[in-house]
Amino acid sequence: DANDLGKGTYPYYMLKEIDEQPAAIRRIIQEYQDDQGQLTIDSEIIAAMQASDRIYIIGAGTSMHAGLVGQALFEQLNGIPVEVHVASEFAYNMPLLTEKPFFIFLSQSGETADSRQVLVQVNELGYDSLTITNVKGSTLSREASYTLLLHVGPEIAVASTKAYTGQIAVMAVLADVLANAQGRKLDFDMETELSLVANAMETVVDDKDHLHEIATQIFTDVRNAFYIGRGLDYYVSCEAALKLKEISYIQTEGFAGGELKHGTISLIEDGTPVLAVISQKDTAAHTRGNLEETRARGANTVVITMEGMERQDDQIVIPAVHSLLAPLVTVVPTQLLAYYASLDRDLDVDKPRNLAKAVTVE
Ligand code: G6P
Repeated sequence: DANDLGKGTYPYYMLKEIDEQPAAIRRIIQEYQDDQGQLTIDSEIIAAMQASDRIYIIGAGTSMHAGLVGQALFEQLNGIPVEVHVASEFAYNMPLLTEKPFFIFLSQSGETADSRQVLVQVNELGYDSLTITNVKGSTLSREASYTLLLHVGPEIAVASTKAYTGQIAVMAVLADVLANAQGRKLDFDMETELSLVANAMETVVDDKDHLHEIATQIFTDVRNAFYIGRGLDYYVSCEAALKLKEISYIQTEGFAGGELKHGTISLIEDGTPVLAVISQKDTAAHTRGNLEETRARGANTVVITMEGMERQDDQIVIPAVHSLLAPLVTVVPTQLLAYYASLDRDLDVDKPRNLAKAVTVE
């Protein structure tokens, strides 16, 4: 039960919270269903989004990374332009806004000072806003025009896992309901696809021993690592890199696969781990090419891909899910790899040095 504040038999909250993700996705589907079993969202939120000419997604850390996936969802399913911004930058370096902006604040805690600073300004300007948060009654929730809850249960580990996937799932529901309201006919059923995502996550979290082996093989004694991908796979790479660096202290960068050759590839040495996220058909071959370039320079390469796209030597193959929702599943092995890298180093997985769960100073 996600509401049980104890760790139960788990050594760390992070592992428990990773494991809770399939159930959390199923709970989100339930919480956002009407009596007829249709996905539903407060009609005022839908009306406000429909009236807007651009969505601005604001967040920090992992929440900002979830926002990048949200951008793809709203742009592709709703045809509304989206900008994603780091809260601390937006607050003091605000871009030119469109005529009818709509703001989405992503915040697990609902208390991040950087995000709140933006919300204060948005309220002064009189624009509509929605906070998507895990904490009912939190500051960002109270001060925004609207709130949607994650319903993933309390997240205790500093490294965020189920909040990231929860934020993406809630945005997927939102994009789906909005598409309906817009009269845009989607060629897939969101509820069904999210259920498949939950099942696929379950397969991944059942693969722990294999993922621990890979983590030990590639991360022992290394000081830096890379995740690469393109498009949605790039966004997951950013989150995967953050997760690994924050709890293992291995300096890790998430990189756009095609950009690596424009400088950063000079950092690749014998044994540098380079992990590629490959779930998008149109860019798979290019990312494989980019990974091969690093392997030729000595990198220890790992492929995270999806059934139907795998090649013989690919180490991590997740069950097939809808390509737009792939980040919900490809991120899970990267969470577990980070967890085992931290565990292998005898670090306190749940309480990495210098970090706080919620940062309430700007
Ligand atoms: C802190 C946490 C991160 C989190 C970020 C944003 O830095 O350590 O895990 O992603 O704050 O937090 P929020 O609660 O706004 O999502």
